[in-house]
Amino acid sequence: MQLISSSNQRNELYEKFKLKIIHNSYLDRTLVSYQGNKQTPFSSWFKYREGFSERLVTYLLQTFKPKPGVLIDPFSGVGSSLFAASALGWQTTGIELLPVGLFATQARIIAQKIDVELLNLEITKFKQINFQDYYDQFSVFNHLAITRGAFSSINEEQLIAYISYCKNIIPNKDINTIFIYAAFCILEDISYTRKDGQYLRWDNRSGRSKGNGKFNKGEILSFEDAINRKLKQIISDLKSSLVQLNLFSENLLLELATTKSSIVEKTKPKLYEGSCLEILPTIQENSVDFVITSPPYVNRYDYTRTYALELAFLGCSEEKVKSLRQQMLSCTVENRGKCNYLEQFYTIRNRHQDFLKIDSTFKNQAALQEVLIVLENYKKQGKLNNDNIVRMVGNYFYEMCFVIYELARILKSGGIVAMVNDNVRYAGEEVPVDLILSDIAESFGLKTRYIWTLGRGKGNSSQQMGNHGRTELRKCVYIWEK
Ligand SMILES: C[S@@+](CC[C@H](N)C(=O)[O-])C[C@H]1O[C@@H](n2cnc3c(N)ncnc32)[C@H](O)[C@@H]1O
Repeated sequence: MQLISSSNQRNELYEKFKLKIIHNSYLDRTLVSYQGNKQTPFSSWFKYREGFSERLVTYLLQTFKPKPGVLIDPFSGVGSSLFAASALGWQTTGIELLPVGLFATQARIIAQKIDVELLNLEITKFKQINFQDYYDQFSVFNHLAITRGAFSSINEEQLIAYISYCKNIIPNKDINTIFIYAAFCILEDISYTRKDGQYLRWDNRSGRSKGNGKFNKGEILSFEDAINRKLKQIISDLKSSLVQLNLFSENLLLELATTKSSIVEKTKPKLYEGSCLEILPTIQENSVDFVITSPPYVNRYDYTRTYALELAFLGCSEEKVKSLRQQMLSCTVENRGKCNYLEQFYTIRNRHQDFLKIDSTFKNQAALQEVLIVLENYKKQGKLNNDNIVRMVGNYFYEMCFVIYELARILKSGGIVAMVNDNVRYAGEEVPVDLILSDIAESFGLKTRYIWTLGRGKGNSSQQMGNHGRTELRKCVYIWEK
């Protein structure tokens, strides 16, 4: 019974790492998160709230490895780390599971090499016609159950007409993708929904009886206005980045006798579609210099619900969305465990020994097991607002053990992992994600250089580690080295 309220293991871990926990004043919240942060032109087209700033990536690379090499981001989202590193001459690879981030990354790769004049011409043409003439009453927007009713009928008709215009009238594949991407970027603006914390919030004008029915998101743009604004933003950003690129390459030409297009081509990110739990094991060992990444946090945030409009737009069926939700790194109460699946996956590849090592590292991580026991007891006492929270926390760390093991394997000696993540708390009980993951990383041969904290300070001291619902939780960037 003593263990119920115990925080001994976590306190011990805190003692082990406390000298590494350093507040880095350069890294405040705005540097790491999308919100409130000045974005590059490309990343401001689509609001991916989980994306981190490209300035952070530049800072990390310049601080630890000013000389370009090979970088990988196993949870690449919209590709912030890939593009920022590419711009510094790094060879980059991203892995992303959700079609949302994949499409945004692919669209940006295309935008960076697009014929800006041709795009401009198509936009001018588009402005001169009435795209609504292309509405086809037999075409539909393939809604998911949770997106039905998200658009006014006029906006939905215009969206359908626009897509049909793009399909039928714009022959150039790349220009077509940018036009479709423009519509993808405005879905929230033209809808009755707003991405809010854990879920889509519904405006009372939707007539959908969600929430308390009082929410008003403010102006809802007409599709026509929104798409014209977005296309204008895209073309103006592209024109100005072309000017910058020309200046840049003129300077570089003097030094390297190279061309504008070869600069872009050489540094184009490589993108894998799928789960990093499956893709990382296929990557060559000792082949990577830098990992910059931010996995989902263990905070119940469901990307497939928040980005339901975008997933529906990209043609994902109900079944597909359910399967993506299960494949994602476990961070919602709906995720079922992947233990059997991972055992099979490693065994088929003649890596059962690796599986056993990873599995036992999870089982022997004392602070983690302590947290799981405490949460299990809270569950029995009815203190958790969802019984599956314990399962989620366990699965999250289980899967992160696999990710970290593989990262340690593919890193070159001297290679660096920089990981952005937040600590969490359930029923007042702190889960020191930073300490647990750093300890797991050390079990796999990595060394913790820093646990940099953001915001106001260091969070809990060791004496406060247990159930202290109101103390500040650490938001961190961990730096591990091989
Ligand atoms: C915190 S976000 C990373 C955002 C990214 N740093 C950026 O700037 O866009 C975590 C990402 O991990 C992706 N993800 C979740 N589970 C995954 C998995 N098993 N394999 C690959 N990506 C996954 C999510 O779709 C999400 O885009």
